[in-house]
Amino acid sequence: MDIVLQETTFRQLRDFIYEKCGIFIPDMKKYIVEKKLAGRLQAKNLRSFEDYFYLLQYGGNGDEIAGLYDAITTNETSFFREPNQFSVLAEHVIPELLKSKKTGDLRFWSGACSTGEEPYTLAILLMEKKLLARASVMGSDISNEVLTAAQRGIYGPYSLRNMPEQYLKKYFKPNSGQVFEIDDSIRKSVRFMNVNLMDSRKTRLVSSADVIFCRNVLIYFDNKAKQKAISNLYDSLRPGGFLFIGTSESLHDVTRAFKPVIINKTIVYQRV
Ligand SMILES: C[S@@+](CC[C@H](N)C(=O)[O-])C[C@H]1O[C@@H](n2cnc3c(N)ncnc32)[C@H](O)[C@@H]1O
Repeated sequence: MDIVLQETTFRQLRDFIYEKCGIFIPDMKKYIVEKKLAGRLQAKNLRSFEDYFYLLQYGGNGDEIAGLYDAITTNETSFFREPNQFSVLAEHVIPELLKSKKTGDLRFWSGACSTGEEPYTLAILLMEKKLLARASVMGSDISNEVLTAAQRGIYGPYSLRNMPEQYLKKYFKPNSGQVFEIDDSIRKSVRFMNVNLMDSRKTRLVSSADVIFCRNVLIYFDNKAKQKAISNLYDSLRPGGFLFIGTSESLHDVTRAFKPVIINKTIVYQRV
């Protein structure tokens, strides 16, 4: 028999999730929480959502919070997602960075990287420009499960559907069937870390970034959480550095701290 998520427990869980990671779940999405967390109840051998909420609050050292993040997050991604942004990066932003930063490393951060396709796309572009040796690329996410998959670097056809053929040949080797493994030259160039964008103690570990990609995660936050995340990212960028958010996302009503720069119909936000 299915375990029912009572309205009051839903509200408690929803508020807990929001407080911890900024993800805001509206009332009409109760069924999603019920579905997504059913597996955690099973994994923990629990018979009610009330017991699960108790475990989250008081169990061990808060260990189950990692399980909660794995279950509750949406991790949709792919290589070269929203390709115009990568063209703008390669053709405009990187050349500008090179002008303003003649020496020193170039620091890239993919701040909600899911299974790694985004930071690996950055690494491939940097390799193509012969800049990877001079660059550091970091990928971070709140879910350990996706970070483990990212480190493994094995991808199927859905993730690779926008991958240019020449890069697939150059930077991947067949694993099995339509599954490919990313080459070590790319895999080893990206460092992965668990960073909650709401936690300024964690985001502060990244400083003086030249470029931050933080795409398709703000959509899960409400305005207050967006402000918190964006303010943390602002602090991690160097003055003059660039922020890319998802093409369906906006900083309108969130902050005026960035200068929006429009290049080839693509908005990039620059820290002034
Ligand atoms: C839809 S994916 C986007 C992946 C990639 N940036 C892209 O655009 O293809 C959103 C990711 O944000 C992560 N996420 C959600 N809340 C987060 C938070 N508070 N801190 C860091 N990552 C978070 C999720 O785990 C998920 O992997």
